[in-house]
Amino acid sequence: MSKQRQLLVTVALPYANGPTHLGHLVEHIQADIWVRLQRSLGNDVVFICGDDAHGTPIMISAEKQNITPDQLVAQIHDIRKQDLHDFQVHYDNYYTTHSPENKTLSEMIYQRLKERGDIETKTISQLFDPAKKMFLPDRYVKGECPRCGAKDQYGDNCEACGATYSTTDLKNPTSILSGEKPIEKESVHYFFKLANHQDLLEKWLKAGHLQSAVSNKLLEWFAQGLSPWDISRDEPYFGFEIPDAPGKYFYVWLDAPIGYMASFVNLSKKRNDLDFDHYWVDEKSTELYHFVGKDIVYFHALFWPAMLHGSGHRMPTNVFAHGYLTINGAKMSKSRGTFITARQYIQHLDSDYLRYYFAAKLNSGIDDLDFNFLDFAQRVNSDLVGKVVNIASRCAGFITKNFEGKLAEKFDNDELFTHAIQQAEKIADLLVQREYNQAVKEIMALADAANAYIAEQAPWDLAKQPGQEGRVQSVCTLGLNLFKVIMTYLHPIVPNLAKKSADFLNYPELSWQTLKTPLLNHRINTFTPLITRIDAQKIDSYFSEQPIVNA
Ligand code: 2FM
Ligand code: ZN
Repeated sequence: MSKQRQLLVTVALPYANGPTHLGHLVEHIQADIWVRLQRSLGNDVVFICGDDAHGTPIMISAEKQNITPDQLVAQIHDIRKQDLHDFQVHYDNYYTTHSPENKTLSEMIYQRLKERGDIETKTISQLFDPAKKMFLPDRYVKGECPRCGAKDQYGDNCEACGATYSTTDLKNPTSILSGEKPIEKESVHYFFKLANHQDLLEKWLKAGHLQSAVSNKLLEWFAQGLSPWDISRDEPYFGFEIPDAPGKYFYVWLDAPIGYMASFVNLSKKRNDLDFDHYWVDEKSTELYHFVGKDIVYFHALFWPAMLHGSGHRMPTNVFAHGYLTINGAKMSKSRGTFITARQYIQHLDSDYLRYYFAAKLNSGIDDLDFNFLDFAQRVNSDLVGKVVNIASRCAGFITKNFEGKLAEKFDNDELFTHAIQQAEKIADLLVQREYNQAVKEIMALADAANAYIAEQAPWDLAKQPGQEGRVQSVCTLGLNLFKVIMTYLHPIVPNLAKKSADFLNYPELSWQTLKTPLLNHRINTFTPLITRIDAQKIDSYFSEQPIVNA
């Protein structure tokens, strides 16, 4: 047997300033499926995440709610943990970037970069709100586009003509915090000289660590040379103060990815088997994977690997980017009523439905995926209810009533069972490659074959014919064994249903390790409905109330 691999898997840390929504869940669920699969294949996985707690929006959001940022971050932390738990996303540690571990690590990484000459300071001019006495990030300034003159445009780009510009070029700017006209003011900023790592990054990108669409895009940037990255912000700012630079703070994106390490370190205090250097220095012994949205891939594939390397750490094995979620074909938006929170969903529907639907649509690319209400209901009803669980519900009754719950000693169509278990490698490979939609197709083809076999054998007719008891037991035993194989393939995707199925089969746990062992001469439990149909007519009403959003 090959040596057990040791993987460290992370998911982008959500900002601690709003509720979990279905867009977040695409990523958490995509990664959770992958981790469950890897574990089922026998690999050792450390799965970590946490809240991204720093930055101006969180500071402003807390101020609006008349609480401190610390209080806001603590509130969101508890809510988020519950949300993720309710969707069966099980992290080994869900921590926060606002932690002593993260402060120590951020300072250490910064010091090491500084010592090797990667940090420089420059005086830059930015818009400053004289009423709020703070520098304004781009999204806090509105004005007229310097190119087309469109009004009410944000500080860095124009939605009307698509121009991108510097905030200081905006005409007639106003601060959206105070409504005042900002002034231009100079300040010293700290920069990370990314160009020092250009050769290394280029080599890393070309070595196939990323999806090709992503690395090709990033490599375009190299042509112009990599600019220094501004890693500091002036007070007031919610974050970590830069050592020896009073009033200057690390920009949230500096300490955010270090939060992965902090979450790991925090976990290692609770367990005694996690060595920091083993995971974060030695890249031969372990693998490091980051699941992220396509919008933040450049942080993870440029800045972060450079920070890691520059500070004497290993680089990521891979960064897995995914597309955005749309709702019924439209962008998720609070004003359009297409913003669905995790809480709204879970009040009405089982998390497995969403996990299955996302899996049925996800692949390894960065295309957006759509949550279409009708398609969702149809897909879940026809596949999970109509195909998969149907196998069990058609066979279980005969075994319980006629054979005291006992499966036969053998079944007679070995080919069907052999074919089903022979798909193990192919389905595992597709899941490992994150081609979940193709894996689901293969699994459903097995469910179709199982249903066709049962329909053809018609145990309900056989049961009425004298002398056919043996056939009835054999057909239903095969049917239930095919159900076991199919549910084993599906278990990383639908853990709730997998658990209920294992209980019904009176089997401890569905796993790739025990996939090939048929259940023979084995007593099952009485079948109770494992899943209910989604009422497609009701979905609109589930999501029509506006969620409570405090961000
Ligand atoms: O884009 C975001 O939502 C960020 N909070 C992700 C941070 S990922 C990591 F670097 F912490
Ligand atoms: Zn414009």
